[in-house]
Amino acid sequence: MPVELAVAPGLADLALNELREIARRSGLPIPAAVMSDDAVALDWPGEVRSLHALRTVQYVSRVWRFEVPRPKALLGDAALRELSEGLVELSAAGEAGFSGLRLSAAGRDSSVMQRLALALAESTGLPLREDGDLLVRVRPGAASGWEVLARTTPRPLSVRAWRVCDRPGGLDAGVAAALVRWAGVRDEERVCNPMLGSGTLLIERAVAGPAACLHGFDVDPEALRCAERNASAAAVLARLRLWQGDATEVAPEHERYHLLLVDPPWGDAVGDPQANAALYAGLLRASARRCLSGGRMVLVTQEVRLIERLLSERSGWVVRQQRRVWHGGHRPVCLLLERLPLAV
Ligand SMILES: C[S@@+](CC[C@H](N)C(=O)[O-])C[C@H]1O[C@@H](n2cnc3c(N)ncnc32)[C@H](O)[C@@H]1O
Repeated sequence: MPVELAVAPGLADLALNELREIARRSGLPIPAAVMSDDAVALDWPGEVRSLHALRTVQYVSRVWRFEVPRPKALLGDAALRELSEGLVELSAAGEAGFSGLRLSAAGRDSSVMQRLALALAESTGLPLREDGDLLVRVRPGAASGWEVLARTTPRPLSVRAWRVCDRPGGLDAGVAAALVRWAGVRDEERVCNPMLGSGTLLIERAVAGPAACLHGFDVDPEALRCAERNASAAAVLARLRLWQGDATEVAPEHERYHLLLVDPPWGDAVGDPQANAALYAGLLRASARRCLSGGRMVLVTQEVRLIERLLSERSGWVVRQQRRVWHGGHRPVCLLLERLPLAV
């Protein structure tokens, strides 16, 4: 079945890896895929429902391709029947029912698009609504013809059921899941998430697999309460240890970790750019002491120049990989750092 996985731009390769894992686990052939910056297109050999387990993907769409010159041809009997049957099948298969249909297309107000929207609403029995959760998109095909895409779930997959509490500057859960996999998920590792916030990185790490320990802390008690509520909703709270603490300080008897996951204040929704210079310097210093020699830190921030400058000084860290992603109107850098063996 032709599908498209929408991903946060910059993370498509990680989504494709996760998709291949699901195919392997389900005993399905690994499908060939076409990857762009923000999407992975493929012919999925299994049930579409099995794709809803993908954590790194924003949402999944079922795709229909029509070799027609203009969208008006989508109103023809054969195309309309194929689309209607497909959408009815999709809404019948959905774990949570759809409550309305929304059509998104360039020229959405044209009479052709309006007739198409009405015809699809009628065949699915769903009302046409501005906030409809059966999202149908019409767009020109990459090379020729026209494509119709329908999101397969009422809400994006990246909107997690566990998020019962939100905080300013919270990370998108799909991005967090991708970064966790990028860092590597290893059962024997001790993992810590300083600057925990609402807990997104730590919860996604816990869901991704076992670990020797999963620790997290934040200077703000409100953030801790929020992370606790989310972790409880994700049914992982019992596996975490959370406390109030400062990420720029390390107690003499500090614990040491194989992996640190850190999303510090970016200086807009949380924190301010002036304070960040000292905060980031302190964070790198303390994290180098918290991390085992040869251990890793994933750090995601919009403070690109600042972090590059600090890392070029004797920080105790070396950049092993980096990537830029799009995240809620920002383009943060994601760094995979390795702790150098020498103490700093
Ligand atoms: C960008 S938010 C983290 C968001 C988190 N990734 C999420 O998804 O909710 C940064 C967090 O750093 C915390 N913070 C700021 N300075 C800190 C410090 N010195 N030590 C520990 N936490 C700190 C803030 O309280 C805030 O919760």
